[in-house]
This record gives sequence, C-alpha cells and structure tokens, in this order.
Amino acid sequence: MLVIDVISVQPQMLRGFLEESIVARAVKKGACEIRIHNLRDYTHDRWRKVDDKPYGGGPGMLMMCGPWFEAVESCLDGSSAEGRRVIMTSPSGRRFDQRVAESLAGERHLVFMCGHYEGFDARIRTLATDELSIGDFVMTGGEIAAAAMVDSVVRLLPGVLGGGPAATASESFGRDGLLEAPQYTHPPVFRGMAVPPVLLSGDHVKIEAWRRSQAMKLTVSVRPDLAVSPGRR
Ligand SMILES: C[S@@+](CC[C@H](N)C(=O)[O-])C[C@H]1O[C@@H](n2cnc3c(N)ncnc32)[C@H](O)[C@@H]1O
Repeated sequence: MLVIDVISVQPQMLRGFLEESIVARAVKKGACEIRIHNLRDYTHDRWRKVDDKPYGGGPGMLMMCGPWFEAVESCLDGSSAEGRRVIMTSPSGRRFDQRVAESLAGERHLVFMCGHYEGFDARIRTLATDELSIGDFVMTGGEIAAAAMVDSVVRLLPGVLGGGPAATASESFGRDGLLEAPQYTHPPVFRGMAVPPVLLSGDHVKIEAWRRSQAMKLTVSVRPDLAVSPGRR
C-alpha cells in the first residue's frame, strides 16, 4: 500500500480535497493511506513560527530549516529508503507529467512538501529526492500542486479506477503518448450534432482505427510537441 504524507502550513486546504473524491475512495479501498501534517506542529516557540526574512535582503519571508527538517524526518522515521520519494513542490522544479505520475505510483512512500511565502531556505532542498513543478506559473502555496500530483498518482494505483489498467492506458498521455480521441455518449444526435457513425457501427476494428487517427489529428493540432516525441509509441 502506498503511504502519502503531505506537509503544509494550511492543512485544512488539503483536507477538503484529499479526504473527498477518488482519493478518499482509494483510501477506503486500502490502495493508499494519506496523512496530512501541519508544519507548525514541528515548531518550538509560542508563535509557531515557520518563516523569517531572507539574508541579503529582498521581498517577503522564507520558510525556515528547523520545522521542515523535523517534519520530514518525522514522516520518514521507520520508513525504508527503498521505494521512498520526498517531493518538494516548486515552480523551478522539473515539470510534473504523466510519466512522473506513473513512476511515483510505483513507489511505497511519498512525502510532499508544500511551500509558502517566497519559498524555502535553499538548505531545505537537501531533504528532497525530487523538486517538481506543475507548470510555468507561480502560485501562493504548494497545496494545489501537491493535491494535483496526489490525485494523478492515486488514480493510477491498482483497483482505484473501475476499468483497471485499460482505463488509464487509453487516456491522454497514456500508452501511445497521444491525446485522447473525442468521445461521445447518449443521445446520438444533440442539437443537430451527430455522433460519428463509425462509433455506432459495432465494428471494433474500425472504431479502434478511427480513434487512433482522431487521437493523432488532435495531438498534431493541439500538442505538436507530443506528436513528434510521443512517450511510448
Ligand atoms: C510564491 S511560491 C515561491 C516562488 C519562488 N519565490 C520562486 O520564484 O520560484 C510559494 C510556494 O508555492 C509553491 N508553488 C508555486 N508555484 C508552483 C508551481 N508552479 N509548481 C509547484 N509548486 C508551486 C511552492 O511550494 C513554492 O515554494
């Protein structure tokens, strides 16, 4: 079972998200355990201080080493180094994508570090095995980034999604590295827009070929970068 620790100064922000939806279902099914920690529980002063001014000057406050080292070390206590990743959320980290999600889903223990303010004292980086960004933009905190990563990892765990491995393999960024082909459900015609006849034909060979060509067309038009180097085609 995958154990996921998430450390934050705003644990209430994570609770709403991680204790509901597919993630909560995964926990109930025993596919993973989620533990949310308040960074302030690892402080030793009456103000529960986690930040201070940057040396050399500059705007804002930085997260201090002490609480982060204690919090991460406490999460790692008793956990084996094998199958363990400590992920620092950071706009300057490596870009998170489906391949990274798959590799995290194969681990045994993940610790997510949610930054705040102007970010982390650089020494805190030594705790992390990975520094990951969810895109080239800056948010106020790492909670949304951690929640996005946890969600995309948890839905890959065995038994979490109804359709098994096939449910994720045929999705965007799946086995073929392409975007998913357009999909349709009832009714067959809605406001003059008809479902492509091939999907109603019952001919699964033709349907597969149509999906593949549509996936390729969509990928070339929206994400040509993926069409040039599609993951595992
Ligand atoms: C305001 S940001 C700090 C930005 C930092 N001063 C910089 O310029 O790189 C505060 C925290 O939000 C999180 N964060 C912001 N944008 C992010 C992104 N694109 N991906 C992952 N985490 C992000 C990180 O945990 C970061 O430490």
